[in-house]
Amino acid sequence: MMEVSIRRLHFFSLITLLSFPRHLHASPEYSRPPPRPIIFTSHTRSESDPQQVHISLVGVDHVRVSWITSHKHTKSTVEYGKSPGTYEASATGDHTSYHYFFYSSGEIHHVVIGPLEPSTTYYYRCGGSGPESSFRTPPSDLPIEFVIVGDLGQTEWTASTLSHVGARDYDVFLLPGDLSYADTHQQLWDSFGRLVEPYASRRPWMVTEGNHEIETFPIVYPHGFRAYNARWRMPYEQSGSESNLYYSFNVAGAHILMLGSYTDFDADSDQYKWLEADLAKVNRTTTPWIFALLHAPWYNSNEAHQGEGESMRKAMEELLYKARVDAVFAGHVHAYERFTRVFDNTADPCGPVYITVGDGGNREGLALKFEKQKPSISVYREASFGHGRLRVYNQTHAHWSWHRNNDSDSFEADRVWLQNIYASATSCTEPTPQSQRDEL
Ligand SMILES: *[C@@H]1O[C@H](CO)[C@@H](O)[C@H](O)[C@H]1NC(C)=O
Ligand SMILES: *[C@@H]1O[C@H](CO)[C@@H](O)[C@H](O)[C@H]1NC(C)=O
Ligand SMILES: *[C@@H]1O[C@H](CO)[C@@H](O)[C@H](O)[C@H]1NC(C)=O
Repeated sequence: MMEVSIRRLHFFSLITLLSFPRHLHASPEYSRPPPRPIIFTSHTRSESDPQQVHISLVGVDHVRVSWITSHKHTKSTVEYGKSPGTYEASATGDHTSYHYFFYSSGEIHHVVIGPLEPSTTYYYRCGGSGPESSFRTPPSDLPIEFVIVGDLGQTEWTASTLSHVGARDYDVFLLPGDLSYADTHQQLWDSFGRLVEPYASRRPWMVTEGNHEIETFPIVYPHGFRAYNARWRMPYEQSGSESNLYYSFNVAGAHILMLGSYTDFDADSDQYKWLEADLAKVNRTTTPWIFALLHAPWYNSNEAHQGEGESMRKAMEELLYKARVDAVFAGHVHAYERFTRVFDNTADPCGPVYITVGDGGNREGLALKFEKQKPSISVYREASFGHGRLRVYNQTHAHWSWHRNNDSDSFEADRVWLQNIYASATSCTEPTPQSQRDEL
């Protein structure tokens, strides 16, 4: 009897010793500070002045300028030029508006300007009056720096995230869904537009939809996305898409897929057929990098939103894998998590890196709990508010970092070098056989 229990004791200490190094590699415990209140950003300009100005990329040398006026009879015209107050060019676009029950939107203007030179600051004025703004076009070649933020919302945490974003230079802002958290309260779309204007009018903002953009109402608004599609028009036609809910674009050596988690994605769907055709056209010489953004993550070890991205993963993962997509960024889960290269739930050197970039600030402020057991494919996770930066240096190297909000400071909590999938040691030109994957 005695001997047995001593052996057991040894057995348990051996287990403890063996498992100890794993703890060293686990993410440090981080407990997130409490949620903060919503900021309502009110309208302080005149009725005919532009407000909620934001810009987005259209093709490689054009920009769409979008803004709203309360007054219905203002011109959809943008004047622009390379020095302040001197506008050598102008362009005219169109305008739209929408109703949502008793709410009527202001006039929403969209004007495409260009051709523009790369890495150049342009000064512009919307509608012939109001304040001047300026933006910088992205570079035509690498390097380029993206800021990526999910689940942005409009709380005091959002303001903190945005101030950290603005504190260091970058080229293009990418948002994988959940913008205003208006959730049918349309005035919150206007408030959000005013909160983000100082950032979104200066750098291109490329967005795709999250669940908080849906805003369907039975019988009256069965298709949803009324506010989102009217206000955040993206360059879908340029990539052959027929829907503002999914599209792609090229910028400085990167092909970026903005996928739709809340529209059809199965093999018979328009989105699937579009994606297949879009990926077939990618030229890895001109765009060596492929990144994808979508809202509901395909890989997630949080207790929240488990399985919500699963049917889309099953439908589309193989397309992305075969196309050798480098990284996939998601939101939805209000916590940061980075996975290794994965295909079909298994570590795979030819699969994309999966990263969830929640949480930019959101409305609920829920501190979500990770599952106790950390999956072996999950590399780093923490339930922080913050933003990510993806700096693509050249054809072979990109650097990813997660910047956790720490009140008025931000703290770089996670970082990793990404090697372009073709440049990584393993040859990924052919799909990896199952036998090789098992060895990892
Ligand atoms: C890809 O782009 C390069 C550089 O512009 C060009 O030389 C090559 O022909 C293109 N490849 C295909 C398949 O179109
Ligand atoms: C690409 O950038 C990385 C990081 O700066 C650098 O180490 C590497 O030498 C560069 N490669 C080329 C071909 O310039
Ligand atoms: C966050 O800020 C607090 C002070 O507000 C400081 O004590 C702490 O070290 C900071 N944490 C990190 C990780 O930067």
